[in-house]
Amino acid sequence: MINNFPADFTWGVATSSYQIEGATNKDGRGVSIWDTFAATPGKVVNGETGDMACDHYHLFKEDIALMRKLGVQSYRFSIAWPRLFPQGDKVREQRGFDFYNRLIDELIANGIEPMATLYHWDLPQTLQDRGGWANREIVNEFVDYAASAVEAFGDRVPNWITLNEPWCVSWLGYMLGVHAPGVQNLDHAIAASHHTALAHGLAARAMRKINPNIKIGIAPNMTNYRVDDPSNPELMELSGLMDSHINRWWVDAFTHGEYPKNLADFYGEKLQKYVLPGDMDSIKVQTDFLGINYYSDSFIGTPRPEDKPMSEGGLFPFPQRSNGTPPEPYTDMGWPITPNGLRDLLVRVSKDWPSISEIAITENGAAYPEGPDENGDVQDTRRVAYIEAHIEAVGQAIADGAPVKRYYAWSFMDNYEWAEGYAKRFGIVHVDFDTMKRTPKESAKVFSSIIHSHSSFWETVSQS
Ligand code: FCB
Repeated sequence: MINNFPADFTWGVATSSYQIEGATNKDGRGVSIWDTFAATPGKVVNGETGDMACDHYHLFKEDIALMRKLGVQSYRFSIAWPRLFPQGDKVREQRGFDFYNRLIDELIANGIEPMATLYHWDLPQTLQDRGGWANREIVNEFVDYAASAVEAFGDRVPNWITLNEPWCVSWLGYMLGVHAPGVQNLDHAIAASHHTALAHGLAARAMRKINPNIKIGIAPNMTNYRVDDPSNPELMELSGLMDSHINRWWVDAFTHGEYPKNLADFYGEKLQKYVLPGDMDSIKVQTDFLGINYYSDSFIGTPRPEDKPMSEGGLFPFPQRSNGTPPEPYTDMGWPITPNGLRDLLVRVSKDWPSISEIAITENGAAYPEGPDENGDVQDTRRVAYIEAHIEAVGQAIADGAPVKRYYAWSFMDNYEWAEGYAKRFGIVHVDFDTMKRTPKESAKVFSSIIHSHSSFWETVSQS
């Protein structure tokens, strides 16, 4: 199954700072928008917060030891902006830098290659108080932060991701309001869509200037839109808009310096007022790899009575027309399991954006609730099936010519699943949130054996 993965293919696990670190008051860390959002009644299931999370801030050495034991080759983590710059200004908190230095050095000492994400959603609250991603000033703030991080860690971190899922940042955070900062404002969401794209463009330039040896990517969430009835022109138009909305916006931006025309026209003035002369030139930028976060395909069905037609502005917010016929079964998130979609998506990306020379699957995984049984084993057979099927799909895409070089399982361990709190478990390692005990699940063992058989396959090849 894994024989067609290239010899230099990298197998990793992923997490993000707010979801695992805890220690939110420790060592001068400033308040992030997720601290504020989580503390707001009604925003997160059971009112749960990331205050403790997996206490990775204190347990990172044990976590890294476990990664090593599993044979993990690379670890994708994120840097909490408010640990380095608690007020989102230029005042550094050295203890924050020290933490990531310790983390990075420990990874390297264990033979694990670090991959750092700069923005995985924990914006300093002070910046949100000035509008956050809806305020153009954030672009420069982000560039300064990105440059400082590369200056401090770029000698040891070869791969960098500017933004994780800018669609979620902009639309879940500023339009639907289901993620921090919980704003519901179309203008702000469109502004954020532009400012995140601009932030990637300008930060990538600044980062490369500081350290020309690093590789820079961005990690959008991507999907395929499957239309129930392709003979229905309204559904096809909606599917085209959704594709632009989720898949093409940031990727077209950095590859072509353009936003997809159908959606830019659709936004019209609402977008144009944010796009200043020269912006699109700044947005087009050399990007060394595309990170893809893939969980499932999306389904566009016939409108429900409550869905407004497009002529009445029904696309705002984009209707959740997943009432088509998504195939069962679903994961614990209610997401359909569509491994072939990952193959199709990767092949599509390689055809539609041939300038992208390297793809990393920066997140892929499934939520299931299983915990330790009476023997202490975690038999997460459905997650095993999910991961195996998706890795196989990656292998097929590579055979079809997609330049995929990395696969990161989401997630290394159970963690704080944003508005879902701790109830949704994505880890290949189980976490007991009372005792903080880590227990590798069956999926961790299977993933580990995939990594090992890949390495030994290539050892055999190179010796013969
Ligand atoms: C993605 C996020 C990640 C995690 C997974 C399940 O949208 O990037 O932090 O929550 O979903």
